[in-house]
Amino acid sequence: MYKGQTALIMGASSGIGAAFAGELARKGMNLIVVARSGDKLQRLAEDLSARHGVQVDVIIADLSDEQTALGVYDEVKRRRLQVDLLVNNAGVASYGFFDKLSLKKQEDEIRLNVLTVVSLTHHFLQDMLERRRGAVINVASASGFQPTPFMAVYGATKAFMISWSEALWAETKDKGVSVVALCPGRTATNIQEVMGVGAVGPGKDVSPEQVVRTGLRALEKGKMTVVDGRGNYWTAQIARIFPRKFVVGIAYRIFRKNSSGAA
Ligand SMILES: NC(=O)c1ccc[n+]([C@@H]2O[C@H](COP(=O)([O-])OP(=O)(O)OC[C@H]3O[C@@H](n4cnc5c(N)ncnc54)[C@H](OP(=O)(O)O)[C@@H]3O)[C@@H](O)[C@H]2O)c1
Repeated sequence: MYKGQTALIMGASSGIGAAFAGELARKGMNLIVVARSGDKLQRLAEDLSARHGVQVDVIIADLSDEQTALGVYDEVKRRRLQVDLLVNNAGVASYGFFDKLSLKKQEDEIRLNVLTVVSLTHHFLQDMLERRRGAVINVASASGFQPTPFMAVYGATKAFMISWSEALWAETKDKGVSVVALCPGRTATNIQEVMGVGAVGPGKDVSPEQVVRTGLRALEKGKMTVVDGRGNYWTAQIARIFPRKFVVGIAYRIFRKNSSGAA
């Protein structure tokens, strides 16, 4: 399933994306790694190809810019590479009251977490469907199962990701292509630092490697959606069963209480 195939990982320079790169290289996959931090990607590429003997291509791109993002597809074609597994992982989050956060920042968040994912997947999925072979892992979030006060835009982008990904799963499952929405809870990565408020949300941080193992197991089993961690799984189920007003009230208290930041 993995050996000798090629995975394209969006946002591979740190956190869950870097853990995907490590695990997939260990399984013998060639990689195309994408992010803005060229130096980190270069180090990762040298390390993984030396350790696992795989080919690692680096593409430096700001995926919150729609044109640059589409350039990634063109660049993959120009290098005559074939993408067998697409990992839509690049994402950012911002924390605070919606009206107090910069509009530009939140629009960029929607571009990166949603628009880029949709447009690049549209391109790569067509190639996979033509070959009747391929897989897509969409890194969503446990936040996508309920509204997320103080991370209103982020939660909504991840709700989009889950709904869109599940619909794609249904459309492609009989055509040789697997699509899975991977929904991590709190994971020890740079994202909290980028948000600038420390740990937010229920539960404890897990390692990005655990999240990756959960995602790959789900892909291998042909699952549509997977939530990492039992606590996160049950939180997601509760959010589906109880009235939305009740759920958002709980989420308001959890996300405010656990924050050390603006809200
Ligand atoms: N950590 C958590 O608690 C958690 C929980 C649920 C879901 N997630 C999801 O997991 C995914 C990965 O996040 P992470 O937690 O691993 O955070 P992270 O360590 O901050 O990694 C984010 C990755 O996205 C890349 N990225 C950010 N902005 C980009 C841009 N404009 N263009 C290109 N690449 C960009 C970053 O690379 P550069 O900065 O080098 O560009 C980095 O490689 C995200 O989709 C996030 O929403 C995380």
